[in-house]
Amino acid sequence: MTWHTVASLKEVPLGESLRVTVDGEPVALFNLNGTIHATHNRCTHGKASLADGYVDGDCVECPLHEGVFHIPTGKAMSGPVSVALRVYPVKVDDDGYIHVDDAPAD
Ligand code: FES
Repeated sequence: MTWHTVASLKEVPLGESLRVTVDGEPVALFNLNGTIHATHNRCTHGKASLADGYVDGDCVECPLHEGVFHIPTGKAMSGPVSVALRVYPVKVDDDGYIHVDDAPAD
């Protein structure tokens, strides 16, 4: 388990996303109602950046073929996607910095 400081809370406004890198892997941060979640940034269906997707509720729609993933769990919900996204543990410190653990979430 290694925590990586990846961004400040100000960089990920409510309902928005941000692409960062964690241990060489592209990771997407999402701010859902004030809670930051982290998933792998690459869609499991193709070469698309989910940080560029459309956030709807607690899901993100892939910008390429409209596959939908549940952000907190990474579960593939609909569209052509069937393989779940990797999700990562996240913590935000008292100074407003976002930290992502490079170990998979349980
Ligand atoms: S690349 Fe994401 S749904 Fe096809």
